[in-house]
Amino acid sequence: MYEQASHSLLNEILVELKPEIGNFRLRHFYTRLGANFYAIHSLFHLLYGDRPDLKGKMVKLVETLALRYIERSPHLRRSDLEREKNYNWFMSQKWVGMALYCDRFAGDLKGLRAKLPYLQELGVNMLHIMPILDCPPDNSDGGYAVRNFRRIDPRFGTTADVEALAATLKKRDMLLVLDVVVNHTSNEHEWAQRARKGEQKYQDYYFVFEDREIPDIYEEAMPEIFPVTSPGNFTWNEEMGKWVMTVFNSYQWDLNYRNPAVLIEMIDIILFWANKGADILRLDAVAFLWKKMGSACQNEREAHLLLQLMKDCCQVTAPGVLFIAEAIVSPGEIAKYFGEDAINAKECEIAYNASLMALLWDAVATKNANLLNRGVKNLPDKLERATWLNYVRCHDDIGLGFDDNDARLSGYDPFLHRRFLIDYFTGKFPGSPARGLPFGDNPKTGDTRISGSLASLVGLETALEHQNEDAIEAAIKTIVLLHSMILSFGGIPLLYYGDALGMLNSLEYLADPFKRHDNRWVHRSHFDWNKAEKRSQSGTVEQRIFSALKKLIALRKETTPFADLDNRQLLATENPNLLVFSRTDTQNSRNRVLVAGNFNVEAQALHIGTPRSHGFFQQDAMKDLCSGMRIVSENDTVIIPPLSFYWLTD
Ligand code: GLC
Ligand code: GLC
Repeated sequence: MYEQASHSLLNEILVELKPEIGNFRLRHFYTRLGANFYAIHSLFHLLYGDRPDLKGKMVKLVETLALRYIERSPHLRRSDLEREKNYNWFMSQKWVGMALYCDRFAGDLKGLRAKLPYLQELGVNMLHIMPILDCPPDNSDGGYAVRNFRRIDPRFGTTADVEALAATLKKRDMLLVLDVVVNHTSNEHEWAQRARKGEQKYQDYYFVFEDREIPDIYEEAMPEIFPVTSPGNFTWNEEMGKWVMTVFNSYQWDLNYRNPAVLIEMIDIILFWANKGADILRLDAVAFLWKKMGSACQNEREAHLLLQLMKDCCQVTAPGVLFIAEAIVSPGEIAKYFGEDAINAKECEIAYNASLMALLWDAVATKNANLLNRGVKNLPDKLERATWLNYVRCHDDIGLGFDDNDARLSGYDPFLHRRFLIDYFTGKFPGSPARGLPFGDNPKTGDTRISGSLASLVGLETALEHQNEDAIEAAIKTIVLLHSMILSFGGIPLLYYGDALGMLNSLEYLADPFKRHDNRWVHRSHFDWNKAEKRSQSGTVEQRIFSALKKLIALRKETTPFADLDNRQLLATENPNLLVFSRTDTQNSRNRVLVAGNFNVEAQALHIGTPRSHGFFQQDAMKDLCSGMRIVSENDTVIIPPLSFYWLTD
């Protein structure tokens, strides 16, 4: 886009850049800067227009983009150009992700390289390594309290190890996902330390207050994220003699993006890791980026403007690198993190589908797909060049973030229904085999979330203890059913390490004084390689889960209708236990899959009237991709076994 004022400002900036910047071959950099500069300038102006140092800050920003571009290696620049041509590359069905802790899975980064064959055996080709940057060992929040954004925790390795891993992954056609914790730093980060010593420059990087007056006003409208372990949103710092905003743990200081210096620092860090070979960056806690008194300080418009700026800047220097939005917010808000427009107001290409995750768990507890259908139907539209990250479990707790109105329309009182779900997953509800733990219990609001491993939440732990083969079978089926949904829904499925083997809750965290107060560690255990061995012993629980998921992953990859190209249609059924949707190949509309999942513990009938009116079941039978069997309809009805699913094709 060309616009006179910004173009003339751009020319002025180019004159002021450091001389060494002019000496490099920057053709692609300049064309992209030209294309993005209008947007960058407008957004910067919207956010910081009232500051006298606006132009100086813009010079600094453009300099940062140029310096990081100069540093970007030839092979990454080449990959940028390739991805520019094939710009929908990440919407393909070929990608399957896994999130894991490098130390808990493989010791360190070098060890991780040696474990890649395990991931490839399962079919995983996108690797999200949980945060590996330097954190204080005691107060680390699992890597999300970063002390140094440019230093790998020496226990895991070095920056060179990350680059070597990225290169190995590339050869194996695998993607690397790394975190950038954009919302806060550790209280031991250099900026925080200098703020504590009284340096105004760095106090301005955070929200620092002399007394409780302003904090109290903020508190009126801000919810608490960790009400049990870290109540309130401000922490008194003795050394400064001031209050500092700490939305998450008391040792995580929120960055103040009202200060453009903070934004520029963080863009620099984003590009630093882009240059180390990350294909995708997971931007942590993005909903929280902008704080405004009188608001919940989540999902503010400015948070979106900041993300647009980050995206535009990344597109200038490292356009092949994608962003994942970690915004665990209400269904209506999440899709906004894709941006409003794929060209003019783009934010993150990928977003955690926390709504689908919560809805799937609802189906597990209620054993029907009532709310799931409603929630899927009302999922907001996303931009064209954007895709979901679909997951069942991750390193965090499960928040029951479905829409209250959908719950009401499904015949539930939202509050009581959430209570039921908490009771169910914590095993309090009569007959529930789940072994979850309540997390973030807030008596003031009645909110609670749930910790626990997938296997323990679906009853595998209880079933194994009772040596109840039927219950074991039901738990395994539930695990496979949930994965069949995230693998076929549209978007990138993200598995959680351990889930493909049925890893149970682990109480090892209770022995660690720095972890025992945070029960999310119950599902972040050390990966058990002895258990992994059992994946090749026929009849073991591990083998039953692993082989089923491996097969589904392989099928997904060759099933082109599973690419995420706005090609899913939810089909209404009269049977509330079923979720039924169609997926269509956008290149060849006759290439289609009918996905049907049964969340009930009894076999259920699918009446094929609706599917037939959508072009399925033109004959009496269709083929199930997974079993290879012909599924025959009788009296216009197909029977789906308990806790099972079909992927049906002609
Ligand atoms: C994100 C992370 C979570 C962490 C929080 C604060 O939500 O996923 O683990 O506690 O941010 O950084
Ligand atoms: C994020 C999410 C919340 C999660 C927390 C970490 O703030 O919004 O659901 O529980 O991080 O646990």
